[in-house]
Amino acid sequence: MPVLAHRRDEIERLCAKYPSRRSALLPLLWMVQEQEGWVSQDSMREVADIIGCTAAEVYEVVSFYTMYNQKPTGRHHIQLCHTLACAICGSAEAGEYIKNKYGFTHGKSMSDDGRFSIVEVECIGACSNAPAMLVGETLYGDLTPESIDSILGAHA
Ligand code: FES
Repeated sequence: MPVLAHRRDEIERLCAKYPSRRSALLPLLWMVQEQEGWVSQDSMREVADIIGCTAAEVYEVVSFYTMYNQKPTGRHHIQLCHTLACAICGSAEAGEYIKNKYGFTHGKSMSDDGRFSIVEVECIGACSNAPAMLVGETLYGDLTPESIDSILGAHA
């Protein structure tokens, strides 16, 4: 089912800003994600039709950028950095703590109550405050078990 059908005017205004409709790919994907919380394969096909490329080309972009969610997320989506600075400063331990606390296992990245989902990502630009994570669009650094409890406890 098309998810952007009711936004055609907005989409045409967006596409008109670029020399080529294909250049609107990233903002269109962001539009889908803001609306749906993730980018399904049906949505990728819809975006491909809008800008005139193949669904495979859209998938290449969605799968390259971890900011695009390829499956439904919890109400609060955690992106935990596991790149070098964070790895040295304990991102694996922070990840284990979060996973144990909310019942994430290998292959299960959403808590049973749908409150949290988690994914490991590459550097999120907060290396000086490693280990770091994003919860939604908010950045948190210097993670410890205590700060994780405080941060995630504030997200109902
Ligand atoms: S390495 Fe983790 S924020 Fe840069």
